[in-house]
Amino acid sequence: MFFQSEKGQKDIHLKDYLFILLNRKWIVISFFVFTVTAVSFATFTQKPVYRATATVVVDAETPNVLSSVNEVVRLGESNYFAYRDYMDTQKEIIKSRRNAHKVFKKLRLSSNKGYSSAKDPLEELLKKIKVESIRNTRILEISADDTDPEMASALANEFARVYSDSNLALSVKTSGNAEDWLKKELQVQEKKVRDSEIEAQDYKEKNDLISAEEKTNIVSEALTKINGSYMESQSRRIQMETAYRAIENDKGELLLDNLPSILNGNESLQQLKQDYLKQEALLMEYEKVYKGKHPKMITLLGQIEHLKSRIKNELESQYNVAKQEEIKFKSLLDEKKKEAVDLERKTINYNALMRGVDINRKMLAMVLNRLKETSISGQIHANNIRIQDIAEAPKDPIKPKKKLNIALGIIIGLFGGVTLAFFKEYMDTSLKDQHDITQFLDLPILGSVPRIKIDRKNIKRKGDIDRVVDLDSDSIAAEAYRSIRTNLLFSLGDADFSKSIIVTSSVPREGKTITAVNLAMMIGRSGEKVLLVDSDMRKPRTHSIFNLKNQAGLSDFLSGAKDFDSILNYTGIDNLSVITAGVISHRPAELLSSVNMKVFLSRASSQFSKIIFDTPPITLVTDASILSNVSGAGVILVAESGRTTKELLHNSKELLKKVNARIIGVVLNNVSLTKSGYFYPQYYYSKYYNPALNK
Ligand SMILES: Nc1ncnc2c1ncn2[C@@H]1O[C@H](COP(=O)(O)OP(=O)(O)O)[C@@H](O)[C@H]1O
Ligand SMILES: [Mg+2]
Repeated sequence: MFFQSEKGQKDIHLKDYLFILLNRKWIVISFFVFTVTAVSFATFTQKPVYRATATVVVDAETPNVLSSVNEVVRLGESNYFAYRDYMDTQKEIIKSRRNAHKVFKKLRLSSNKGYSSAKDPLEELLKKIKVESIRNTRILEISADDTDPEMASALANEFARVYSDSNLALSVKTSGNAEDWLKKELQVQEKKVRDSEIEAQDYKEKNDLISAEEKTNIVSEALTKINGSYMESQSRRIQMETAYRAIENDKGELLLDNLPSILNGNESLQQLKQDYLKQEALLMEYEKVYKGKHPKMITLLGQIEHLKSRIKNELESQYNVAKQEEIKFKSLLDEKKKEAVDLERKTINYNALMRGVDINRKMLAMVLNRLKETSISGQIHANNIRIQDIAEAPKDPIKPKKKLNIALGIIIGLFGGVTLAFFKEYMDTSLKDQHDITQFLDLPILGSVPRIKIDRKNIKRKGDIDRVVDLDSDSIAAEAYRSIRTNLLFSLGDADFSKSIIVTSSVPREGKTITAVNLAMMIGRSGEKVLLVDSDMRKPRTHSIFNLKNQAGLSDFLSGAKDFDSILNYTGIDNLSVITAGVISHRPAELLSSVNMKVFLSRASSQFSKIIFDTPPITLVTDASILSNVSGAGVILVAESGRTTKELLHNSKELLKKVNARIIGVVLNNVSLTKSGYFYPQYYYSKYYNPALNK
């Protein structure tokens, strides 16, 4: 704070905090009462809001009604993240405008006042709806808030129902879609089967594949046979060829030995061979009988030669026959081989076509089966969302939370009040007790005057307060003035300036006049002749306190209109005379600094031992400064407790210092007895230990 450094910090105790609170109890109390009242008012005038909650279970998959049939539409997933996404999606679906619109229509909310006036009724409706998922479950809570408990439950239930129904509709629609698609696919597949069957059949007919397998068997059998025949013909041809070549090369004997194997089944050749063998045997006989060149011999030899050539010719023709046969079988075999290869190729082709038919048939069967399942599952209407609990109309509102609000109001009221009190204390730089003055301003203290109250005994009216020393001389206030007198006389001693005393203060209404009047009375009581001069020519008040007329006063003397004696008033109080301010002047400062003022001072001091001047406030006008300058009087500075700030008193002190005024000390006026912790001890002290002063 401003002057804190001058005398150091005072220790702060818990007691001081309690004092602050005690002093500012009205702030605390009024803030508290205001807050609690405001909160209570708001709480009790608020329309209660009710909350109803319906719960729905969202299964991951539709109930498995058809044990062997997998659902066409898969709902939900088992994976955690997928689950979370799924649940979030469901929440959004519940709170969708589409759902809201259905509920709105169903509950006929358009006639409801709350919505008809709203800009966006659906938004207004959705504001009331809250969807929460219960952790680690597949349950969603749909809550609705409304001022009407019945409406709250109706809303929660309707939202749950609409959601569940629309989900079912979606699943039906999806399986319906699947069914339509499958039906189309069925037609396509049926056509495919038909086409492929026709193609295979055509191929079969065109290629004469009546029975492929049989045909293959026939062909292969024929092939084996022909092959056998061919081999046979070939070996015969080789035999024939060998025999023919042998004969041709004239190895007749050798040949004839070998002939029998060839001759099997060949009668003409066999006959020729036997004939030949006969002729040979005959020749052996002849050779024994006849000599060469015998005609019989020659004839026989000729016959043998003839036979030989016949056999040769026969063999040649046989050989040619065998050769022809071989060639024939060879070409037959080639032909059959070709036929077999061709058949095989066709069979492969045909098999491929048949496989295509087979696949198409299987596809058709699958589509057919799926179609059957789908139309069944479509009829079953599997729904993975079911309503678990329907919402009931709540009995107790959720808002306002009366107890909580009031408890909060009390806490905030108390806390805020206390905070405000401390804040005001912190911001308040006004002087409150003597301690503040000695601590922050280097000024002596003459004493404190308590706040004087009307008590219906001695102080009956407001006007009596200003004369407390006269009217109630045993009061604490009178005691205070007594103490101030003691201190004042002590600090003045016998000094020259001790005769005149100026009472002033920083601003109006701090208690200059009351201090001057009562101090004058108190000094008068001690036996000194006292003159009280009202030199506040701007707002004079002294005359009214003493019930005097202000027709002739100080200003009249100073202006030369009146002489000293004619302005002097006797009050009827011990040793106290009063000079009022006189006719209000427009130039009081000039009058106070005039030569007449010197005359006035010497006149007054010759007649009175103490002259006390009441003055206007020092920070507003220069009157007090001038007076102090002219008179050389000591100055008493009055400060009002709880009002005069440290800065203000400091300024006044500086102003007085400038004119070299001698400040005797400060009187702290209007100290609250209940507030000050310093007042009592001081007074008991003075009352009990200075009985001599008790006059
Ligand atoms: N200690 C006090 N207790 C009660 N009332 C007081 C006290 N001091 C001053 N007053 C009242 O305050 C008002 C202003 O006081 P006054 O002495 O006229 O101030 P000033 O002369 O500084 O303007 C008067 O009505 C007076 O009765
Ligand atoms: Mg006054």
